[in-house]
Amino acid sequence: MRATVADDLLGHYRTTARRLPWRAPPGAPRQDPYKVWLSEVMLQQTTVATVTPRFERFVERWPTVEALAAAPDEDILQEWAGLGYYARARNLIACARAVAARGGFPRTEAELRALPGLGLYTAAAIAAIAFGERAVVVDTNVARVVARLFALPGPAEGIREKAAAITPDAERAGDFAQAMMDLGATICRPRAPRCGECPVSAHCVAFALGTPEEFPARKAK
Ligand code: ADE
Repeated sequence: MRATVADDLLGHYRTTARRLPWRAPPGAPRQDPYKVWLSEVMLQQTTVATVTPRFERFVERWPTVEALAAAPDEDILQEWAGLGYYARARNLIACARAVAARGGFPRTEAELRALPGLGLYTAAAIAAIAFGERAVVVDTNVARVVARLFALPGPAEGIREKAAAITPDAERAGDFAQAMMDLGATICRPRAPRCGECPVSAHCVAFALGTPEEFPARKAK
């Protein structure tokens, strides 16, 4: 049978996954939900390069969600300084306290979404990466990869549906989500994508058309 997008992508991810401090190695037991949650909140609108040292300081100071929940607001806001968006830090504090009060992170995307500040993307990422749920994880980078794979016309139309169609079984969903993020960051870049190095170019309609950069189509002004 023909290899799927997930088969080819995960084969590549096993040898090329970026080693990031919040990430378990490919195929390894899942990562601590506290670290997955904290990294995903930090990575909203802040780059991996900026987040990495800040994440390490944060978890050294507060190794668990209970420790973070017990910390004074001022200490957390001070540690957050420079990561921008105070609203995110405020939500982080509210979320840590809600999680500590209920005795730990909930394990499903639906329950995670009910926590303060957790949107569709973050809840799906935590469910897939920390708990092995077959959640559909779509951020801007993943949306671009999907738009190209299927040569989708509109900026958003059909992306979630297609992303769901290529998401593998629960066991691999967390690695798949992170492999898609890495692909979007390093190969399937907005400009000058490195299609020659892409493990899924054989599945990619935009590549076959010869115009990967034209997807996703830009919004009409
Ligand atoms: N950007 C957002 N979440 C990420 C993750 N888990 N790995 C790499 N980049 C990311």
